[in-house]
Amino acid sequence: MMGFGAKFGLARYWAIKTHEPYKLVLKDKEVMEMASSSATFWDRIAKRYSRQPIADEAAYQTKLRITQTHLQPETELLEFGCGTGSTAIIHAPYVKHIRAIDISSKMIEIAQAKAAAAHIENITFEQSSIEALKLAEHSLDVVLGLSILHLVEDKEAVIAQIYKMLKPGGVFISSTSCLGESLSWLKFITPIGRLIGLMPMLMFFTHDELQKCLTDSGFVIDYSWQPSEGKAVFIVAKKPC
Ligand SMILES: C[S@@+](CC[C@H](N)C(=O)[O-])C[C@H]1O[C@@H](n2cnc3c(N)ncnc32)[C@H](O)[C@@H]1O
Repeated sequence: MMGFGAKFGLARYWAIKTHEPYKLVLKDKEVMEMASSSATFWDRIAKRYSRQPIADEAAYQTKLRITQTHLQPETELLEFGCGTGSTAIIHAPYVKHIRAIDISSKMIEIAQAKAAAAHIENITFEQSSIEALKLAEHSLDVVLGLSILHLVEDKEAVIAQIYKMLKPGGVFISSTSCLGESLSWLKFITPIGRLIGLMPMLMFFTHDELQKCLTDSGFVIDYSWQPSEGKAVFIVAKKPC
């Protein structure tokens, strides 16, 4: 029987050779192994990540402002891949409740400490991968996924899951590095980077592919903005009423 590592390596080799996106049919145990290796990477860099300044403050402020046009005092919001919680803490005063999840327990610890220091009480931080999260259908008004969609193994499945969890008229707001464009060369070094623990798992797709994936799932693109070439693509996708 081929082990998880060998299967993963082979699939990635296939993707690199053929330039075809690869898909693995993963069993539960394999999904858990992959999640735990991803969590190990993010746990290890959590402290350093929390000290890093925002790369493009002007673009970040614009994204916050646009996001807040979709927030109401009764909004139920999920943020997945919340990292150290900075964005959730900024949005918290404008919504009813935020459930903020991250695969890394270290990121969650830092986020909880920051929220407590800021006296924010309407965020529930929780260690969970988005794939493992079980939420009722039609239970959310807004889902936020910032710098995360290029880190999940199966973005189609995650986007379909988010679509189900949103209420009709709800929005999925994402900001994503579309590495299939200017940084596609990275895919040649990612397997080695991962092997020596210096890089997380990265998925490579273009802006158009991401938008197609959202519309194929039923979303309507409400707003799409890329501050400049090579920068993360900010998309507000709406679930029709
Ligand atoms: C690049 S950081 C982005 C953090 C934050 N959203 C931000 O914009 O600063 C990616 C985060 O996603 C988390 N993550 C990675 N894979 C995940 C998954 N499958 N489910 C939930 N969180 C995940 C990592 O632990 C990390 O905190």
